[in-house]
Amino acid sequence: MQLYLDTANLDEIREAASWGVLSGVTTNPTLIAREKGVDFKATISEIATLVDGPISAETISLDAEGMLREGLEYAAWHPNVIIKVPSTTEGLKAVYQLARKGIRTNVTLCFNATQALLAARAGAFVISPFVGRVDDTGVDGMQLIREIAAIYKADPEIKTRILSASIRHPRHIIESALAGADIATCPFKVLQLAMRHPLTDRGIEQFLADWKARA
Ligand code: G3P
Repeated sequence: MQLYLDTANLDEIREAASWGVLSGVTTNPTLIAREKGVDFKATISEIATLVDGPISAETISLDAEGMLREGLEYAAWHPNVIIKVPSTTEGLKAVYQLARKGIRTNVTLCFNATQALLAARAGAFVISPFVGRVDDTGVDGMQLIREIAAIYKADPEIKTRILSASIRHPRHIIESALAGADIATCPFKVLQLAMRHPLTDRGIEQFLADWKARA
């Protein structure tokens, strides 16, 4: 399973990219707005220089025509830009039209397997089930990944990848991989936590203490 960073913060992207683990980046309007005053195009273009992989840029239109217009504009910024559209029927129309032009899409805000099936049939490059937000409703978000993975696996025509989104903690990363996700997009903090273990810290301390105390 590949790892993407779910952020528009350039420092976080630069740091995680230096670890050699990043295969792409996802952004959304909230994450862009969090980086106060930045220019959308400049930010996406800068991210594309830091990470050699898909960079998701989200449309804000509610109608297919607007999504298509935005998608064509964003796709011209860099070949790695993926157009993010919501899991709606207007989103499906945009996916279908963009796919016919060879432009890849990320169908976001996916909360059930039927949305994922229709997105795939329309030609989505990736589907983004929001596991954390499903968990928030008291339902097991990973079950959604399992269902989509089984449905996609059963249909050899479907090439759509499963991108586990709304990741809240390191356990979500492990469970996403086991459930059949192709990619997990993680907040920087979760990626940092994923590499931490108190026994690793204690082990380093002990090794250093023993090294210093050697005869
Ligand atoms: O990329 C969108 C998704 O990952 C959002 O996560 O934590 O806002 O539910 P969250």
